[in-house]
Formats: sequence, structure tokens, C-alpha cells
Amino acid sequence: MTVLQEHFTMSNGVEIPKLGFGTWQTPDGVAPKAVQTALRVGYTHIDTARAYGNEAGVGQGLRAAGVPRDSIFVTTKVPAEMKTYEQAKQSIATSLAQLQFDHVDLLLIHAPKPWPEMFKPGAPRYFTENAAVWKALEEAFHDGQARAIGVSNFAIDDIENIASQCTVAPVANQIEFHIGHTQDELVAYCQAQGILVEAYSPIATGKLLDDPGIAAVAAKLGKSVAQVCIRYALQKGTLPLPKSVHDTYIAEDAQIDFVIDAGDMAALDAIGDVND
Ligand SMILES: NC(=O)c1ccc[n+]([C@@H]2O[C@H](COP(=O)([O-])OP(=O)(O)OC[C@H]3O[C@@H](n4cnc5c(N)ncnc54)[C@H](OP(=O)(O)O)[C@@H]3O)[C@@H](O)[C@H]2O)c1
Repeated sequence: MTVLQEHFTMSNGVEIPKLGFGTWQTPDGVAPKAVQTALRVGYTHIDTARAYGNEAGVGQGLRAAGVPRDSIFVTTKVPAEMKTYEQAKQSIATSLAQLQFDHVDLLLIHAPKPWPEMFKPGAPRYFTENAAVWKALEEAFHDGQARAIGVSNFAIDDIENIASQCTVAPVANQIEFHIGHTQDELVAYCQAQGILVEAYSPIATGKLLDDPGIAAVAAKLGKSVAQVCIRYALQKGTLPLPKSVHDTYIAEDAQIDFVIDAGDMAALDAIGDVND
């Protein structure tokens, strides 16, 4: 079995394909072709968001591919800025209308704070607001609009805030995770709680492509830097979400059926954060 055919089982029993296809910064007009290419090379899991402005194109591409709805896994997100129950309800309805699907497979709160405040020291934490937004996600889950619900960019205390008040627990946390940026404490917490970690930006939005340390491991294995980055995230027990709009890259990124041995994983672990 190839990675493309494998699944993680989330804590609510829903299976999620082990590799997902990202669509951030994929324009709405480009999304149909990118998504169709992804399905053609074997992806069955597509990640979008209201904030990406491409749900319509993603939905169009998925339908044009002519595959049964239940053979694909679609994730979308309630925007980080929408912090009331009513806004979240409205956003979920809009997402489904844009995608032209009656449900998504995974629905996430995009971030615990609005983006302008996300990395601002001393910004409010939005605990009460996130609990209200979570209520809307729980209703979507109960109404069959989402087969699973989760969070994104949530820190441990953001998750604990939801966990202490919810009736449906979050099954996934989609976070930035790549070589040099592995958020070990948060990942260990999520994995101990049975929360699946989805690794967004597994190639650091392209910033790792020129890294000489990764290039050395890639040359040794006869793989590309991108493939080593994606495989690294998978071997750490996370679910990588690579993004591309180029057919050759989309196909290449799906070919990660190889093993990085312990020595090379240690060498990759030692690489510093490209964001610093
Ligand atoms: N929840 C969140 O807040 C959040 C935040 C960021 C990302 N995400 C999700 O995670 C996905 C991936 O993250 P990302 O978009 O930041 O980037 P990424 O997958 O880390 O990197 C994408 C970049 O790498 C390039 N690339 C991909 N494969 C390549 C290859 N084989 N060879 C050379 N270049 C290659 C792409 O080029 P081209 O596109 O030009 O082909 C693009 O510039 C997003 O699309 C989104 O779905 C979520």
C-alpha cells in the first residue's frame, strides 16, 4: 500500500487520508486544475479555507474530476476573524454553498485569534469567543454538515479552553510544522490527547527548498528536497499538507514511499528554523 492509500483514524473514528493537498495562495481560477491534477496523481484529501477565497474553484475541480463524493476528504475552515456564534454559522453555510457540497469531512476554526493579533504580544485570548464559535461547529457536526471538527493554530491553552467546555472534542489541530519548526511540546500534547496533528507548510512555503542540509539528505536518498520535507513530517506522526500549482510538483510531492533512516532524521532534526 502506498502513503496515498493510507489513513489515520481520528479519535471520533473518521478516517483521514495520510497526505493532504494544500490550496493556500492557489487562486480560485487555478484551483479547479490544481485539484484535478492532485486527484489524478492519487490525492484524495484536499485542504481549503474560506480565507483562501478558492472554495468555489476547489469544489468545481472536485466535481469535474468525476469521483464519488465519499471517495474524497475535504477540509475547510471558519475564518480567524469570525469570533461570534452567528458569524461562524453563517460562514459554514457560505462554505458549503461555495463548495456546492452538503458536508465537509473536516471543519476547523482557522486560528484562535484574528490574524492581525495572532503574533501580537499581549493580544486578547478570545477564550469565550472561541467557545461560542465551537458551538457552531458542534451543531454542524450534529447536523451532518461536518463529519469531524477541529482547530488550527491552537496553542495548548486554547485547546484546553475548548476541551473544558465542549460536548464534541476537537479531533485535529492543523499547525505549522516543518523541518526546523516542529513545535514539540504542542505536538506531544496533541498526540497524548488523541488529537491528530496536521502539518501545514511542510516545505515552509518553499523556504526550505534551498537548504543545504536537506539537499544533502535528499541527494543521498535520490529524492527531492520537497519529498524529504513531506516524508519527514509523516515520519513524525503528523499529516503533511503540501501545496503546489505545478503538475510536476503535485505529482512529485505525492511520491513519498521511502524511508528516512534514524541517522538522517537526526540530521534533519538538527536544522535550525528557517523562520528565525
Ligand atoms: N491553517 C493554516 O493557518 C495554514 C497556514 C498555511 C498553510 N496551510 C495549509 O497548508 C498548505 C501547505 O502550506 P504552504 O502553502 O504554506 O506551503 P508548502 O507546501 O510548505 O510549500 C509550497 C511552496 O513550495 C513549492 N513547491 C511545492 N512542491 C514543490 C516541489 N516538489 N518542488 C519545488 N517547489 C515545490 C510551491 O510551488 P508552486 O505553488 O509555485 O507550485 C509553493 O511555492 C496550504 O496550502 C494550506 O492548505 C494552513
